[in-house]
Amino acid sequence: MRLAVRADYVLQCAGCHRVDGRGSSRHGIPDFRNSVGAFVRLPAGREYLIRVPGAAQSQLSDAELAAVLNWVLEEFSPAQLPSDFRPYDEQEVAAARRRRYEDVVPVRHGLAKALSAQGFGLADYSYGSDRKP
Ligand code: HEC
Repeated sequence: MRLAVRADYVLQCAGCHRVDGRGSSRHGIPDFRNSVGAFVRLPAGREYLIRVPGAAQSQLSDAELAAVLNWVLEEFSPAQLPSDFRPYDEQEVAAARRRRYEDVVPVRHGLAKALSAQGFGLADYSYGSDRKP
């Protein structure tokens, strides 16, 4: 199971996010490492990880996407997860996934601002920096 999840990540996500999760700040792809886990501390952030276009619009099924998100969080950012972290499941992904964002940029910047107020600094996100709140 774990191997299949990693293979899904490598095939569907790593082209942009890289196998080691480092992304490419220059191309607007945030580093997952020691960052992405913080999002689940906010309800809107938890939902963001499902609705972000690269995840929502992937070819993975709802159950597969839930498994890949859980894997990404544990693999790249365990220290930022809250101790009561509840893994994603198929139902939660199905409910949120179809509600597409009109524009993800202000959503990501808004979450970064809210988390930074709670002491969690996120990885750099270069898209739409001119629109930072
Ligand atoms: C075509 C490139 C691309 C692919 C493929 C891609 N992503 Fe992304 N991902 C991005 C970009 C760019 C962002 C930053 C938000 C935005 O602008 O969409 C992002 C952000 C994210 C985030 C939030 C991280 C943060 O710090 O904001 C998660 C979680 C994520 N992607 C998961 C996935 C998963 C899971 C897959 C595979 C199923 C995937 N992505 C595939 C480009 C991609």
